[in-house]
Amino acid sequence: MATKVEELEAKQGFSYQVEGGVAVITFDLPDSPVNTLSPETGEAFLRVMSRAEREPEVKAVVFTSGKKDSFVAGAKIDFLQTIKTAEEATAISRNGQEGFDKLDAFPKPVVAAIHGACLGGGLEWALACDYRIATDSPKTSLGLPEVQLGLIPGAGGTQRLPALIGVQAALDLILTGKSLKPAKAKKLGVVDEVVPVPILRDIAVRRAKELAEGKLKVERRHGQGFKGVARGGKAKGLAGFLQGLANKELWAEVALEDNPLGRKVLFDQARKQLLKKTRGKFPAPEKALQVIRVGLESGHKAGQEAEAKAFGELVVSDVSKRLVEIFFATTALKKENGTSNPDAKPREVKKVAVLGGGLMGGGIAYVASVLQGVPVRVKDKDDAGVGRAMKQVQTILDERVKRRSLTRREATAKSAVVTAGTDYSGFKSADLVIEAVFEDLKLKHRVIAEVEAVTGEQTIFASNTSSLPITDLAKGSRRPGQVIGMHYFSPVHKMPLLEIITHAGTEDWVTATCVEVGRKQGKTVIVVNDGPGFYTSRILAPYMNEAAYLLGEGADIAELDKALVEFGFPVGPITLLDEVGIDVAQKVGPIMEAAFGKRMAAPKALEKVVADGRLGRKSEKGFYLYEDGKKQDVDPSIYALLPHGTERRSFDRAEMAERVVLQMVNEAIRCLGEGILRSARDGDVGAIFGLGFPPFLGGPFHYVDSRGPAEVLRKLEHFHDKLGERFIPAPLLVEMVKAGKTFYPR
Ligand code: NAI
Repeated sequence: MATKVEELEAKQGFSYQVEGGVAVITFDLPDSPVNTLSPETGEAFLRVMSRAEREPEVKAVVFTSGKKDSFVAGAKIDFLQTIKTAEEATAISRNGQEGFDKLDAFPKPVVAAIHGACLGGGLEWALACDYRIATDSPKTSLGLPEVQLGLIPGAGGTQRLPALIGVQAALDLILTGKSLKPAKAKKLGVVDEVVPVPILRDIAVRRAKELAEGKLKVERRHGQGFKGVARGGKAKGLAGFLQGLANKELWAEVALEDNPLGRKVLFDQARKQLLKKTRGKFPAPEKALQVIRVGLESGHKAGQEAEAKAFGELVVSDVSKRLVEIFFATTALKKENGTSNPDAKPREVKKVAVLGGGLMGGGIAYVASVLQGVPVRVKDKDDAGVGRAMKQVQTILDERVKRRSLTRREATAKSAVVTAGTDYSGFKSADLVIEAVFEDLKLKHRVIAEVEAVTGEQTIFASNTSSLPITDLAKGSRRPGQVIGMHYFSPVHKMPLLEIITHAGTEDWVTATCVEVGRKQGKTVIVVNDGPGFYTSRILAPYMNEAAYLLGEGADIAELDKALVEFGFPVGPITLLDEVGIDVAQKVGPIMEAAFGKRMAAPKALEKVVADGRLGRKSEKGFYLYEDGKKQDVDPSIYALLPHGTERRSFDRAEMAERVVLQMVNEAIRCLGEGILRSARDGDVGAIFGLGFPPFLGGPFHYVDSRGPAEVLRKLEHFHDKLGERFIPAPLLVEMVKAGKTFYPR
């Protein structure tokens, strides 16, 4: 009969089994799809461990997960949200550290047998074991993603990972939060061995025995600070917006661990580069860097103390709260079918056809074939288009082979499922046709009719139009209920958002099917209602217009870009204009003005720029200079085409950012008020993932809530008086201020 203690352990999901001298402890948190950590889990685990310590017949321990495809996914995030003070969070961190210190100092060898996600606290757990074995499954990934939530690892991870794999490789993981696939984890030394799934447990038990018998020896580095751990894995550029921190030359020059001066140079440089990227607005990576440094200089104990303190401060910071909210928003989105009808079921999509093999069509062919994993047929009007699409898929695959995320053989197999031609052969069996021909309503109507003539009655027609109303497209269809918008962003294989647009007659199963397809293609999907510019293009238009107004008033190009980068956007609006194409932006202008009237009218300031034939990066001629495809400084000759010429006026950066950002925010509120957006949450997710709105501000709606709707209204009214009707506050904002409401419950 189970004892009371065993019952407690079982309640937290731990089971204990002894096989030939090895205690196998399996963690399977009840009523939860994944294993997560909380203080109760930690306590129960230590109790099971003390049993393994007491029982003389147990010589070693294997720790593993009972979940089908996950090890331990990290701390329970909703639990983090309940923490009220920094002190409380610091205490929780210390508690976790103590637990893992005990595991680290456990007198018998402990092997972690890892299959599935081993993230955050899960990896910290594994790091405190003596030996780590991971499966070679694509479902297995290891990492410390805390910075992505504005946090740092809080249970010893900032200390044990550098001790295990060297500072350089650890910084690359901790400061970016990226995760590793098993082979890479093995290469860096995060795990000791990689094995196929079916033999994981057996191998783990065998290794545990070998460790106990002294037949297998591991160098126990962790728990002793960084002394003697001179091992620098090869640095790959840092992911995302922290890229550039892992400066290879710098790391190569300095023999870090044994050289205090080198160490100082290295950390100072790393900090400088980091600050350049984060501008002090995103504190987690900087704190991580500090606490790693404390560990390196003063040892494990001091490092952990610094870690607990920093963790505490971060948990209660606004930045972390916003990032956690966005995390929950995207998690919730993943569970929805994109309609108000919970019974709407997606239908199976076994084949996708893509119409138009240009910039967008090629990218869509890639995500459909390689990520969604279905055969794809592309049609373009001419051979050049066919060639472009095939080449684009091949180029992305080649990049992946170069980065070693695919083998050459895998890439060849994947490219074989994409075929292309200049007629509609292969379209008949497609369940979904995604159209990406030129932005022209007549042309789109023509291809809808052609597609409907050759496909089955159930085939969905999705358009990647960036501005034409889906309602208008559907008017050219015999099956309007199966017409929908799937608005991808460029470059398709990199941009995380897919904006799906339904018109009044789109059938629910069609929406649900496209939402599921988008998710399989790795996208964060929002569904919005139809209207000119939908949501993302619509809120981008007044943002870009305001930047152009500022140029017209004499603002300096580089200063203006800096203002928005300082606010937190990945690039400034004028750089973005060069990227998107000045001609493309110019085409959207009249459409928006026709739909929304004068307040959306593009300023005249750019007319001469367009007339000069400047298209931006693609013509290597825009606001900036380009050399071998690389952006250089502002092109001084552009000023002759702008009002005020080279006599630029000085503007306060914060004021410039305020004007440009408030245009976007005000339009987002209009979209919610008019029912284009279904929720403030979707609006926040769309702006962050589609347009690069600073994630640490939580999106336009969280931003308004943080500043206070009344304050935002006051600012808009101020600009309205000063600059004119384009700043008329959104009616919904006025109503909310009157009613004393916020977008999210406070
Ligand atoms: P693109 O000009 O690079 O490609 C269009 C392709 O369609 C060309 O290869 C052309 O030969 C082909 N085409 C034209 N008529 C055709 C026909 N009758 N049958 C088959 N193929 C035909 O244009 P891009 O940039 O790929 O844009 C395509 C669509 O995606 C447009 O509706 C655009 O508004 C939209 N879009 C573009 C974005 C961008 O950043 N470029 C972003 C989101 C949407």
